[in-house]
Amino acid sequence: MFKSIVCSVLAASLVNAGTIPLGKLADVAKIGTQEEIIPFLGGAGPYYSFPGDYGISRDLPEGCEMKQVQMVGRHGERYPTVSKAKTIKKTWYKLSNYTRQFNGSLTFLNDDYEFFITDDNNLEMESTFANSVDVLNPYTGEMDAKRHAREFLQQYGYMVENKTDFPIFASNSKRVHDTAQYFIDGLGDGFNISLQTVSEAMSAGANTLSACNSCPAWDYDVNDDILDEYDTTYLDDIAKRLNKENKGLNLTSDDADTLFAWCAYEINVRGYSDVCDIFSKDELVRYSYGQDLETFYQEGPGYDIIKSVGSNLFNASVKLLKQSETQDLKVWLSFTHDTDILNYLTTIGIIDDKNNLTAEYVPFMGNTFHKSWYVPQGARVYTEKFQCSNDTYVRYAINDAVIPIETCSTGPGFSCEVNDFYDYAEKRVAGTDFLKVCNVSSVSNVTELTFFWDWNTTHYNATLLKQ
Ligand SMILES: *[C@@H]1O[C@H](CO)[C@@H](O)[C@H](O)[C@H]1NC(C)=O
Ligand SMILES: *[C@@H]1O[C@H](CO)[C@@H](O)[C@H](O)[C@H]1NC(C)=O
Ligand SMILES: *[C@@H]1O[C@H](CO)[C@@H](O)[C@H](O)[C@H]1NC(C)=O
Ligand SMILES: *[C@@H]1O[C@H](CO)[C@@H](O)[C@H](O)[C@H]1NC(C)=O
Ligand SMILES: *[C@@H]1O[C@H](CO)[C@@H](O)[C@H](O)[C@H]1NC(C)=O
Ligand SMILES: *[C@@H]1O[C@H](CO)[C@@H](O)[C@H](O)[C@H]1NC(C)=O
Ligand SMILES: *[C@@H]1O[C@H](CO)[C@@H](O)[C@H](O)[C@H]1NC(C)=O
Ligand SMILES: *[C@@H]1O[C@H](CO)[C@@H](O)[C@H](O)[C@H]1NC(C)=O
Ligand SMILES: *[C@@H]1O[C@H](CO)[C@@H](O)[C@H](O)[C@H]1NC(C)=O
Ligand SMILES: *[C@@H]1O[C@H](CO)[C@@H](O)[C@H](O)[C@H]1NC(C)=O
Ligand SMILES: *[C@@H]1O[C@H](CO)[C@@H](O)[C@H](O)[C@H]1NC(C)=O
Ligand SMILES: *[C@@H]1O[C@H](CO)[C@@H](O)[C@H](O)[C@H]1NC(C)=O
Repeated sequence: MFKSIVCSVLAASLVNAGTIPLGKLADVAKIGTQEEIIPFLGGAGPYYSFPGDYGISRDLPEGCEMKQVQMVGRHGERYPTVSKAKTIKKTWYKLSNYTRQFNGSLTFLNDDYEFFITDDNNLEMESTFANSVDVLNPYTGEMDAKRHAREFLQQYGYMVENKTDFPIFASNSKRVHDTAQYFIDGLGDGFNISLQTVSEAMSAGANTLSACNSCPAWDYDVNDDILDEYDTTYLDDIAKRLNKENKGLNLTSDDADTLFAWCAYEINVRGYSDVCDIFSKDELVRYSYGQDLETFYQEGPGYDIIKSVGSNLFNASVKLLKQSETQDLKVWLSFTHDTDILNYLTTIGIIDDKNNLTAEYVPFMGNTFHKSWYVPQGARVYTEKFQCSNDTYVRYAINDAVIPIETCSTGPGFSCEVNDFYDYAEKRVAGTDFLKVCNVSSVSNVTELTFFWDWNTTHYNATLLKQ
């Protein structure tokens, strides 16, 4: 790891030969100073621990024995997708074609600003030491996954000390797969991991970590009537403000919206972003709630299909829990996308579905669904099954915080007694029907998630895709 830092320092200094930066260095001054902005970026920015931690210890409760650990994780910090980059570039072209000196919060563009997408080959991909645009970038997907692996070993290493060869599952999105590979690298030489690459194509049907892709009936516009109610004049205000400060500049409210994504992804690849300083704190709150709202009604409890989509993974998780005594493997680690994790959490019932979010105002007292708390880049949802004396319990930890199932949390460490948990799970999936609701049969004949059970005979190796 040290070696790659040295290499990228050398590479960077060669590229920049002739423009040796002297005096005030922006990276030194700014990296680390924008972390309070990250929770307001809708999960597009770097990983951070769940802020709504209730203070419950992550430690295995006293006198208990861990029986099984599952983890479903998101890929790490990354470059924007191809489609997001297209909108960001549209805004960048407007700015880069502006012929006057910039004024106000865009002044940073006067100081030979380098646009953060320097190579389109990086789009859709993890940020790494090698592809970061600043050698000091501390927020790479690469480092995040390696650190996660070390934290996993610190927390649960005893679960794998006698079982060092095991599978890890990843979707065949290249960034997801790369995240799993960095995680494996972070585990170290003592392990012999079999990385199973499970297709996220429609044709995979139910045998997938990405059930949303096998769901042709999914309609992202279904709740637009609700979402359209959200007041977005803050975006108009941002555009007007920048245009006023910079005579002749023609930014639109769409450009203003795009600047938030620019801010997030630039942090992922540069370590800081001057674009983030354009926004007032109020604007960040409004943007952030807009993201919560959209996600709630498109990928979460506000869209009735989601509970069925998430049941595909949740049912498999429950099945594994029930097999903890007979399965040789005690640890089940998987990597996929934020949408899949949100669907899964929705089915579990760990995102509040009693209070639908309103678009009429920002419900400061009633909103427990902050998208970026749940699915920042590098998000990780752990399921623990442990036995204490004669009883066994299940509980969840999201992004380093134990999050109890509110109505089933009387066990040690606010866990749920296992039979109560199975009853709870049965009630959660009652009435769901993934195959039917999603019209899966129109795209695939695969009706069951089997990869956790047949990986050793099937050897999943789906071709990696930049998506
Ligand atoms: C601005 O610059 C880009 C790239 O230099 C160019 O492709 C684009 O057409 C220009 N004009 C506008 C209005 O974006
Ligand atoms: C691993 O093996 C050692 C030596 O046999 C044993 O003491 C230890 O309890 C085992 N650990 C687990 C988690 O089974
Ligand atoms: C690693 O695991 C694979 C099976 O996944 C096995 O074929 C191979 O022999 C193992 N290698 C070592 C060094 O244990
Ligand atoms: C399901 O798919 C079939 C075949 O593509 C299509 O005719 C039908 O309208 C779809 N039904 C729904 C509810 O989407
Ligand atoms: C810069 O913006 C301020 C408003 O923030 C305005 O008063 C001033 O005239 C602008 N300067 C130029 C050169 O446009
Ligand atoms: C901004 O938009 C106005 C009205 O559409 C147009 O007249 C003007 O040329 C545009 N300015 C720039 C710099 O694109
Ligand atoms: C919340 O929204 C969902 C999906 O639209 C709906 O099924 C449910 O009844 C609503 N819940 C409440 C409490 O209004
Ligand atoms: C999940 O399990 C429930 C019953 O336990 C069943 O009705 C449902 O069809 C299952 N869904 C999937 C996708 O496996
Ligand atoms: C555990 O179960 C055994 C056998 O059923 C019983 O004798 C013992 O009292 C139980 N221990 C506790 C702490 O409940
Ligand atoms: C499902 O299987 C049938 C019969 O084997 C086949 O005709 C059909 O094309 C398959 N459908 C899909 C979506 O793979
Ligand atoms: C393959 O692994 C699964 C668990 O992942 C286990 O249930 C099954 O027995 C194994 N099959 C073989 C042939 O080893
Ligand atoms: C996956 O493995 C199978 C069997 O070894 C092989 O035939 C196939 O070409 C491999 N596919 C990819 C994409 O590597």
